[in-house]
Amino acid sequence: MRKRVLGSNLEVSEIGLGCMGMSQSYGATDEQEAINTIHYALDNGVYFLDTADMYGNGHNEELIGKALASYKGTEEVIIASKFGIVNGDDITKRYIDGSPEYVRSAIDKSLKRLNLEYLDLYYIHRVDKTVPIEETVGTMSDLVREGKIRHIGICEASLETIERANKVHPITAVQSEYSLWSRDVEAAILPKLQELGIGFVPYSPLGRGFLTTGFQFEEQDMRRFLPRFQDQNLLNNQKLVNQLTKIAEAMNIKTAQLALAWVLHKSENIVPIPGTKKISHLTDNIEATDVLLNTEQISELDRLFDSAAIQGTRYPGILMEEIDA
Ligand SMILES: NC(=O)c1ccc[n+]([C@@H]2O[C@H](COP(=O)([O-])OP(=O)(O)OC[C@H]3O[C@@H](n4cnc5c(N)ncnc54)[C@H](OP(=O)(O)O)[C@@H]3O)[C@@H](O)[C@H]2O)c1
Repeated sequence: MRKRVLGSNLEVSEIGLGCMGMSQSYGATDEQEAINTIHYALDNGVYFLDTADMYGNGHNEELIGKALASYKGTEEVIIASKFGIVNGDDITKRYIDGSPEYVRSAIDKSLKRLNLEYLDLYYIHRVDKTVPIEETVGTMSDLVREGKIRHIGICEASLETIERANKVHPITAVQSEYSLWSRDVEAAILPKLQELGIGFVPYSPLGRGFLTTGFQFEEQDMRRFLPRFQDQNLLNNQKLVNQLTKIAEAMNIKTAQLALAWVLHKSENIVPIPGTKKISHLTDNIEATDVLLNTEQISELDRLFDSAAIQGTRYPGILMEEIDA
């Protein structure tokens, strides 16, 4: 597995492993299978693990802590976690907290669950619009000095917020949704990150599993609440994926591999974190790093997945409001 560098000096594997689905969102979970998948990732060069304190209300960080404790290999591990989304009993009760007090209590809890001395990368999960970004990042900068975190990241941030944050402390990575069917960041954010020397970590690079074949919902699947996965939107969007599958078949690769290769070809400062609970899918995703696309093939996919062709927003209204636009 080749490596890429986020920011000025955070070296990570060319793809990471998104661990969220091992604790929530996408149907049934199996702890042993998840731990096996994490071990397989580390043994096969995928050593950049992505989690957050709110995934499974702390379960995901504890799971990674267990996986690291039982890992027999000697490979290096880079752990990224996030803070700032506070879960409530239901989605209408959740809120964002970027206050200095919250940052300080959140990092200590995350380190305890992960059983780590420090985090390699700590992201603001959502920007708290009631707290100046300088205060949140200023507190994170103190955490760097104290040795609790090595690098600072920020998710779903606007251009202005990224620039302001980067003035307080160098931002190593921005993490936002980016895939063939979520291309909002292309126009302004990606060029600005290049200019500022900030890395980009696309989340949901497989469109939450939609940009694959054989996609189907399980019970208790959060995708049922996302507009793109509903009714006529779903039928319309499926037609685009069917065309993606035809192109992948002609190349003798899997649909998911083509979707991931497209993201990887966009820029060297991009490190996608496809999420999977399964070794079989992880194997496909690892192989995708060797898929070569030429400029015509990339342009063809760009045209096929033109933003106007996608029906439905990324999140329902209540969660779109959390995005810092
Ligand atoms: N910062 C944020 O706000 C934010 C938001 C969402 C996610 N994230 C992070 O980003 C990571 C990735 O995003 P995501 O998990 O939402 O979406 P994703 O990576 O686009 O897709 C994950 C889905 O795709 C399936 N999948 C993975 N590889 C596959 C393959 N080769 N073939 C077929 N299906 C495949 C997975 O199912 P199986 O498990 O069955 O393989 C899962 O249902 C998360 O784990 C999380 O760490 C961050």
